[in-house]
Amino acid sequence: MTAQQVHRNVADCLDDLRTKDRLLSSIHKISSLLTRSISLDTILMLIVKETTQVFGFSRLAVFLTDTDRGLLECRYIHGFSPDDSERALLLPYRLQDHDCVETRVALYGKTIYVRDYSNDPTLTPIDRKVSRIMRRVSTIAVPLKIKSRIIGLITADKDDVRLTLTKRDINILTTFANQASIFIENARLQEQNKRKIKQLLTLQEISKKTSSALNLDKLCQVICTSARQISKAIGSVLYLFDEEGKSLTIAAARGFDTAATRTVHLKKGVGLVGWVAKSGKPILVDDVGVDPQYHPILDNITSLLAVPLNSDKRTIGVLQVTSDERAAFTEDDLKLLLIYAGHAASLIRNARLYGQVMTERNFRENILESSPNSMITINLKKEVTSVNRRTEELFRLRRKDVLGVHVGEMFPAEIVRIVALALDDHAVVNRKEIQQNNRDNSPVILGVTSSLLRTHQGSLIGAMLIVRDLTEEKKTEELIRRLDRLTSLGQVSAGIAHEIRNPLTSINFNVQLLAKKGVASDTAQRLLADTQEGIDRIRILVKGMLGFAKPSLPSLQSDSLPRVIEGAIGLMDSQLKKKKIDVVLDLQSSLPQAVFDAHQIQQVLVNLLLNSMEAMPNGGIISITGRYEGRAAKHAAQIVLRISDKGSGIPRDHLSRIFNPFFTTKPEGTGLGLSIVHKIMEQHGASVDVVSEQNQGTTFILRFPIQLRKERGNVSI
Ligand SMILES: Nc1ncnc2c1ncn2[C@@H]1O[C@H](COP(=O)(O)OP(=O)(O)OP(=O)(O)O)[C@@H](O)[C@H]1O
Ligand SMILES: [Mg+2]
Repeated sequence: MTAQQVHRNVADCLDDLRTKDRLLSSIHKISSLLTRSISLDTILMLIVKETTQVFGFSRLAVFLTDTDRGLLECRYIHGFSPDDSERALLLPYRLQDHDCVETRVALYGKTIYVRDYSNDPTLTPIDRKVSRIMRRVSTIAVPLKIKSRIIGLITADKDDVRLTLTKRDINILTTFANQASIFIENARLQEQNKRKIKQLLTLQEISKKTSSALNLDKLCQVICTSARQISKAIGSVLYLFDEEGKSLTIAAARGFDTAATRTVHLKKGVGLVGWVAKSGKPILVDDVGVDPQYHPILDNITSLLAVPLNSDKRTIGVLQVTSDERAAFTEDDLKLLLIYAGHAASLIRNARLYGQVMTERNFRENILESSPNSMITINLKKEVTSVNRRTEELFRLRRKDVLGVHVGEMFPAEIVRIVALALDDHAVVNRKEIQQNNRDNSPVILGVTSSLLRTHQGSLIGAMLIVRDLTEEKKTEELIRRLDRLTSLGQVSAGIAHEIRNPLTSINFNVQLLAKKGVASDTAQRLLADTQEGIDRIRILVKGMLGFAKPSLPSLQSDSLPRVIEGAIGLMDSQLKKKKIDVVLDLQSSLPQAVFDAHQIQQVLVNLLLNSMEAMPNGGIISITGRYEGRAAKHAAQIVLRISDKGSGIPRDHLSRIFNPFFTTKPEGTGLGLSIVHKIMEQHGASVDVVSEQNQGTTFILRFPIQLRKERGNVSI
């Protein structure tokens, strides 16, 4: 070795040592930074900076591989013109399809040094194209490797100047690249972790939001919005199976024309979505344009991600996110969307169950609401937990005022007693009758049935009361009983009256004869007069009995009720004046004509006026109102007359008996007046009711149902 050679070797060694030293300090610099959390871009920038400085490169690019998608992406560049940078960063190489220096280094992990692009037989058309565009003369491409795993490569050159790298330079560069790989991988993992944590946090946040939606439609929309958010997609579509599980329809979509989504029906197994639905497996498509399975249904889809909605080992639908860009979604996005889809599927299932439960509940509530009986539930604290509409009507209360309130505050004492019986003594009642007063003070008879409410396990949780309005029923029963009694009484009365009438005629004749002959003393004459008075009373009674027993059938004729009313008042005029009683008439001017027996209805009115008069011994006012009431749910069209007095009133326990024959509270009364009223009204197909309050007064209500005969413009009872 010549002295010159030795000198050169020493110089080389020194150079080598200097380079190594610089590189070591670079590595030290970068690794000291790594203890802090620092981004992948910063690491790449540092590596590029150190490499260009140590080796004097003017242009440098770092490529990283994406093994999941088989891509090689340019992640960092230095020294390129802005146009070139844009081109380089935009285009990922497909490892399997593109053959060039970069992909070969990335695939085989061997450094490639192209000394001269114009004269290298190993170069491919892509290389030549790149060299032309980038004005590349020579390049060095060093793999980034961790052990035998290739994570990317660094390429470097010196603008349009040819590189002159020694083997030693390449070795040093390779060593540096190996070290840099570790830094890059570290930063990449850190970033991935950070991204995953962030994604998981977003997922958790979104899942929480989704969980609060119970309405299925709303839930599907929230799921679509969330899916789009999670995968940063442009569109999202939620497909659900129909009831038979054969075809899929769109339950919600985001980012698409709603009209277009409404008509979509997909068969299980057909198309990408159909395949996901059938296989229960997710799918990631970078470019639907090259996928033969893809069925274009919606616009603006280039890449998509579709995951199954699996619940209870069954696929109930498919959640799809889409983008108008190629390869917009990663494997990570897929994993994340899968997790979310699992959550969404169970929420959909819950929402469906909830929907079913609500439908059943509404159905039950509807039945309760439309029940003709009042239903009340009460908890163990004796607070009202539910009431139906009928309860509001019957007890004249509002639901919102009773719920949660102690039963004693809103319901009558009898109800409270029945609740106490049920909850304290576990004793139930069946159709226990209680009485209430209506707004107009007319009595209402209620039948209360109680039952205990228990859980499935049998523990007592409250009581339920079913309350029926028995008033009408009772009235009908009473009417039937009365009619029964009247019929038999009528027959007996007729018999008795007949038997009495004959001997009475002869007694009457004899007494009159004795009185006329004047044979008796004064005392005997007085006795005879008393006897005559007694006979007269018996005659009136017998006449009444016979009238009651065999009232003649009404002879019906179209007539005016006001006329008959005035006739009846006329008949009573002198008596009314004597008793200082005024009759106030308030008859609707448009009262239609009706068909009735004028004589009998006059008898009815006279009997009622007489009773009112007798109930007001010190005078007062009797008012008579007449109203026409059109057809309503409960009754036919009718004329209603109300005869009211402010007299003594009728005690409550008499009310059910006043229509009975011979029921009287008057020393001189026969007790036949009202029973005759009742009978006549009944024979006319009309009705009589009474409302009375002791010491306040009495109102008799006569209802004449009428049929409008259109053809004659007339009405009949
Ligand atoms: N307007 C009224 N005010 C108070 N009580 C009445 C009234 N109308 C009827 N009553 C009560 O009803 C009972 C029965 O009446 P009803 O007309 O049948 O018989 P009466 O009036 O007692 O006897 P009669 O009619 O034969 O004179 C009466 O005795 C009375 O107690
Ligand atoms: Mg009377």
